[in-house]
Amino acid sequence: MNKTFRLIKFLLCAAVCLQSNNALKAQSHPAEVKGLKDVYASYFPMGVAVSPRSLNDTAQAALILKNFNSLTPENAMKMGPIHPEENRYYWKDADAIVAFAQAHGLKVRGHNLCWHEQTPKWLFYDKDGKLVTKAVLLKRLKNHIDSVVGRYKGKIYAWDVVNEAIDDNSTKFLRNSLWYKICGDEFIVKAFEYAHAADPQAVLFYNDYNTERPEKRERVYKLLKMLVDTKVPVNGVGLQAHWSLNEPTQQDLMTTIQKFASLGLKVQITELDISVYPWEKEPRSLRPGESSEFTPEKEEQQAKQYAMVFNVFRKFKNVITGVTFWNISDKYTWLDTYPVNGRKNYPLLFDQNLQPKEAYWQVVKF
Ligand code: GLA
Repeated sequence: MNKTFRLIKFLLCAAVCLQSNNALKAQSHPAEVKGLKDVYASYFPMGVAVSPRSLNDTAQAALILKNFNSLTPENAMKMGPIHPEENRYYWKDADAIVAFAQAHGLKVRGHNLCWHEQTPKWLFYDKDGKLVTKAVLLKRLKNHIDSVVGRYKGKIYAWDVVNEAIDDNSTKFLRNSLWYKICGDEFIVKAFEYAHAADPQAVLFYNDYNTERPEKRERVYKLLKMLVDTKVPVNGVGLQAHWSLNEPTQQDLMTTIQKFASLGLKVQITELDISVYPWEKEPRSLRPGESSEFTPEKEEQQAKQYAMVFNVFRKFKNVITGVTFWNISDKYTWLDTYPVNGRKNYPLLFDQNLQPKEAYWQVVKF
C-alpha cells in the first residue's frame, strides 16, 4: 500500500514538473510566430538553398513558404548537373525550382555560372583529350551563360557569376584552376560580361568563403577592386558564410562588410550555416570516439553566434540585400558529409524535426 502510494506521489510530481517545464518553454517562446521573412521584412529577403526533392516534401515545403522568400538551387544550376555534355542541358531540376518560386512568388538567386568544382570534364578538353585553347574555353563559357541565364531571364534576379576564384594558399592570389591555367584572369572578366549581356537586369555577384579572415578578405578585395576599377559589370559580393561557433568574430565580420561596401558593392550572405565543429578544409574520416553530439553547450554557443551575426546584418541593412541559409533544417545539411563523412552536424535554425532551435529564437528576438 505504502509502495503504491509512493509511486502515485512520484508520478504526480513528475507530471507537475513536466507541465511546468513545458509552461516555462511556452512562456519564453511564443507558440505561434511570424516567419523569418516577415520578421525581417524591412531588412532583407531571407533565402534558403533547396533541391527539387525538398520542395516535393510537404512538411519542408510548408516550412520554406512560411519562413523564406528567396530560393537558391543547391546544386541544380551548377555547370556539371545542368550542362553535362556539350550539346545537352538537363533543365528538369532547375526548372522545377524556378516554377515553385514563380508559383509562390519567391525570388530566385542563380548559383553558379563559373566555378572550378562540379564542372563537367568536356568543357576543358577537346575530342582528342587535350586541353582546349583559351578561345575555345571562352566560347564554351559564353554559350553556357547565354543558355542558362537566357532561359531564366526575368525569373532569376541575381546570379553568382564566379565562385571561389581565390587560391586557398594565402600567399597566392588566383586559384590555379583549369579556368586560370587556360585563360588567365580573363575568364573572370568575361564571365561577368557574358552574364550582363545575357540579362542586363540581373544583379551579378562574386561569391567566396572565409571572406572574413583578414588574409582572404584582402585578396578578395584586391580582385573586386580590379573588377570595379576596370568597369566590369559586378554588382555585389557574396559572403558564403560557412561559419562555426567561434568564427567569424564580430569585428572581422563588420570590417569585411564595410570594406566591400566601400567599393560601392552590395553584400549578400549567400550560404549561411554555423557548424558546431571548427572549420576544416580537407575531407577526412571520422576518428574513433569522435563525438557528433549536439550538446546543450554547443546549442548555446551556436545561438549566441547566430544572435551576433544577425545583429551585425541588421546594422548593415543598407548594404546587405539578402541572407540565404545553406539548407533548410538539420535534417539534411551538406555538412553531414563534409569535411567528415558521417559526422552529424547541426548548423541551421530548425532541428531534424523541422522545429525551431534556440538559435532561431535568437534570430527573431530583437
Ligand atoms: C560551396 C559552393 C556551394 C556548395 C557548398 C557546399 O560553398 O558555393 O554551391 O557546393 O560549397 O554545399
